[in-house]
Amino acid sequence: MTALTAFPHGFLWGASTAGHQIEGGNINSDWWHKEQSTPGMELSLDACDSYHRFEEDVALLADAGLDSYRFSLEWSRIEPIPGHISRAALHHYRRVIDACLARHVTPVVTLQHFTTPHWFAEAGGWAAPEAEERFVRYVTATTSILEGVEWVATMNEPNMQAAIMTAMARMVAGADGEWISPTVEREMSEEERHRASRNVIAYADPEIGRRLVGIHHAAREVLRDRTDAKVGWTIAAGALTAAPGGEEKLLEVRYGKEDVFWEGSRGDDWAGVQAYSSQQVDEHGPVPHVAHPDSTLVGTPYRPDSLEIAVRHAAEMTGGVPLLITENGIATADDAQRIRYTREALEGLHAAIADGIDVRGYLHWSLLDNYEWGHWAPTFGLIAVDRETFVRTPKPSLAWLGEVAHRNALD
Ligand code: BGC
Repeated sequence: MTALTAFPHGFLWGASTAGHQIEGGNINSDWWHKEQSTPGMELSLDACDSYHRFEEDVALLADAGLDSYRFSLEWSRIEPIPGHISRAALHHYRRVIDACLARHVTPVVTLQHFTTPHWFAEAGGWAAPEAEERFVRYVTATTSILEGVEWVATMNEPNMQAAIMTAMARMVAGADGEWISPTVEREMSEEERHRASRNVIAYADPEIGRRLVGIHHAAREVLRDRTDAKVGWTIAAGALTAAPGGEEKLLEVRYGKEDVFWEGSRGDDWAGVQAYSSQQVDEHGPVPHVAHPDSTLVGTPYRPDSLEIAVRHAAEMTGGVPLLITENGIATADDAQRIRYTREALEGLHAAIADGIDVRGYLHWSLLDNYEWGHWAPTFGLIAVDRETFVRTPKPSLAWLGEVAHRNALD
């Protein structure tokens, strides 16, 4: 008998991480420098020391019953100096891939997850005319270690990266005053919060988006020429909905924030959906979140239905490109809330799949409690990590998700 909530045969069940958030000592990256120069940011320092403890991380994931692991390569370790490739760093990442394969865990490899080499950022980052050539050179170097890897993402959340570029450009032009990062938790007035949400979340310039789409397509070509991997990228899905009267504004906001990137996924082998919460758009723009006892540790509302909203929108925008859920999760100190959230998100995902949407797997964010871009308090992990000893302690949610994976169905 097939359970009512069975997922498709061969569905991947896993968890995701990103290099800078877990490895530690990522000293050549732009973020390492940003952390030290931005007031209020906590430092990543040794992070979870996963650069040395990756075998234990993969073993914990596999022993719980999960069968796929998403992690990222650190460009700044592989190319610490422009044009000079570290073979030792490449060998390291090959060992991470091999640790997965040895345990029958499918690796899902992201080539760039928010961080870039410090030298790349200093030379203009993604806005520099040479950005595409520089990224393609790096991507070409990584192809030497990708044998046997089926899933490769060129970039993580190009739309977040584009939104940050837009906000920076507006700031430089004096349009928006002080820079407010949405990833740094601090007390914000209602007005500041509104401005942050407008700057960063709402108004990514579609021109910057198109530029990143071009860079992604150039990298895709190299990967298709030199590897057998299925190539895609992963997109931050806002699960935006219209408040009464906000229908037109929703289309405008969502185009710059997301749709230009979903359009860029057409022709890819897959697209990564990353959903956490949902937000309404009224005639002025995104409506700021209102604090609620159920709000997450990053201040967003508890909205497990965001996954289904995001998947349905991604399917519509990409026109049938297979989808992989590459991130979904909740920043909470209450693991029972994490299980409740994930169960509800999976129910919605199941409904979308039952309607014929092609989804190939679900990778939870995150395997570990990790460095949340400027702060340590928001815990997204299925596994707690002691920051002094690096001892890993699996939470009940890890075993719970492992059982779902084992059954390939919800209970
Ligand atoms: C990013 C992760 C981040 C997560 C939770 C996503 O935007 O890809 O790096 O930790 O959301 O905020």
